[in-house]
Amino acid sequence: MTESLRILLVEDNPGDARLLREMLPRSFKITHVERLDEAFTKLHAMPVDAVLLDLTLPDSQGLGTFRRLHDAFPELPIVVLTGLADDDGAVQALREGAQDWLVKGHAPPEVLVRALRYGFERERLLARLRELDRVRNLFLSVVSHDLRSPNAAIQAGVDLLLTERLGPLTQKQRHALDLVRRNGVRQTRLVSDLLDVATIEAGALVLRNDVVALDALTEATLEELAPLVLERGLVLEQHLAPISVRGDDGRLAQALANLIANAVKFATSKVNIRLTHDEKVARICVEDDGPGIPDALVDTLFERFVRGEGPRAGSGLGLSIVRGIVDGHDGDVWAENRAEGGARFVMTLPL
Ligand SMILES: Nc1ncnc2c1ncn2[C@@H]1O[C@H](COP(=O)(O)OP(=O)(O)O)[C@@H](O)[C@H]1O
Ligand SMILES: [Mg+2]
Repeated sequence: MTESLRILLVEDNPGDARLLREMLPRSFKITHVERLDEAFTKLHAMPVDAVLLDLTLPDSQGLGTFRRLHDAFPELPIVVLTGLADDDGAVQALREGAQDWLVKGHAPPEVLVRALRYGFERERLLARLRELDRVRNLFLSVVSHDLRSPNAAIQAGVDLLLTERLGPLTQKQRHALDLVRRNGVRQTRLVSDLLDVATIEAGALVLRNDVVALDALTEATLEELAPLVLERGLVLEQHLAPISVRGDDGRLAQALANLIANAVKFATSKVNIRLTHDEKVARICVEDDGPGIPDALVDTLFERFVRGEGPRAGSGLGLSIVRGIVDGHDGDVWAENRAEGGARFVMTLPL
């Protein structure tokens, strides 16, 4: 690979600068500046593939030199040059996104060239990944939006038919319409889950900051799920201490509903919900006596599209949304299997 690179060399020591120039292939186009402010001017004015950056410059010293440049041009590959003494700064620069660091006078030319090339290639791949990510999120949100309106129209039509205002229905017609309605609801849920996942992934989840009474919220959520609990013939045990947190009541209800809906789906006979707190956090614990979390899912359960097998598996979005909402509240959520069988999901929210 002999692709030529455009390198910005930022180095105030003329001797070092000359040596470095001599180490780079002739095909490289090298622009040399001696100060950080000059580097900024150049980078705004011309395309550069990678930067060789001395940390000790007349107008900036140490790690700050790297930070300032990296903050202003986060996608530009930077290879840091140091003297022997400042290893710590170099390692820290690496942690913060420098492509590599080289000790001046101690790196052979091939190492220097490779650091620049790899840095350049890595950034190119990252840029491609970022673009794919952007396109995927755009795709998800556009598709979800466009699926919503026809869905709403179908629902409205079915609901109207079910009122019998357009004429009486036979038992069989009612059954068929019920089937359409239930699947419509499922599809609407799926579309809105997809939208939520896209929003969360794009880091665009906006949360209200109200005082939320968790006990009332839990009760309301349970009420909504009551038909499901009844249908499955489950016993519901609850212990709800009166606790309030700050946050988004709609989103917290959604997170809670996802956890409880899973428990109701998997429970054999019983679901237990406890709301407690200590000095720092409110803790919501949702337990069931079902089969527990399959081994294969223990580590990945909260990732999007991860779901178990069998008829009870849904889209695999519920728990990833829970995680996104809880993260947005600076809380924590995790799952474990109970010693006595069944699964336990714990969600904590800062008080
Ligand atoms: N209470 C539970 N007991 C056992 N397994 C569970 C429980 N909750 C979630 N899981 C497992 O985690 C998977 C992911 O859950 P979730 O993200 O809510 O997706 P979905 O419910 O759409 O399948 C489920 O498919 C199931 O395998
Ligand atoms: Mg679920």
